[in-house]
Amino acid sequence: MLTILLPTLEDTLHLGYLLGKHLSPKTTLLLTGNLGAGKTTLVQGIAQGLNISDSVVSPTFTLINEYLDGRIPLYHLDLYRLEPNQVDSIYPEMYWEGIEVEPGITAIEWSQRLLIRPSNYLEIKLTPTPTQERKATLQFYGTNTQDLKFIQNFTPSGTP
Ligand SMILES: Nc1ncnc2c1ncn2[C@@H]1O[C@H](COP(=O)(O)OP(=O)(O)OP(=O)(O)O)[C@@H](O)[C@H]1O
Ligand SMILES: [Mg+2]
Repeated sequence: MLTILLPTLEDTLHLGYLLGKHLSPKTTLLLTGNLGAGKTTLVQGIAQGLNISDSVVSPTFTLINEYLDGRIPLYHLDLYRLEPNQVDSIYPEMYWEGIEVEPGITAIEWSQRLLIRPSNYLEIKLTPTPTQERKATLQFYGTNTQDLKFIQNFTPSGTP
């Protein structure tokens, strides 16, 4: 497991940027963290790293936003408004299995509401610190792990 301190909004964007630059197609990111933890902000950084020109907005009401003009597609899902028995009805596995869609990065906010999970995924937990910074923990589940060395020397912006 990798833990990274994110003192500012820019650090959250930068972590996302690095993920967007380096992650392979068919990577699923299960994002957890309370309201305002920074999940959407992280996905905005991922979109920058993927060279997506559209601006990323929260899919809280649309449930799914697709961005297809970057290095690989970005599928951004938000399960916040769904009851557990409604989560199935948006077929999240279509995205992470790449069924009828081009394989890309699938990022799911409020992923703890999923009833089924992909066989391989990267879980990213965002938690506020007492000083209103953020801490991110990243952990792969499944056999298909990727090397995260591209963020191992992540330096927060405020560090001298
Ligand atoms: N590292 C950080 N340090 C301090 N503030 C941050 C940091 N990262 C993000 N923020 C701020 O925290 C808020 C996060 O909002 P964001 O919409 O990204 O949260 P979210 O987890 O997607 O919430 P929701 O569950 O409502 O979708 C924003 O106001 C952003 O500026
Ligand atoms: Mg959000």
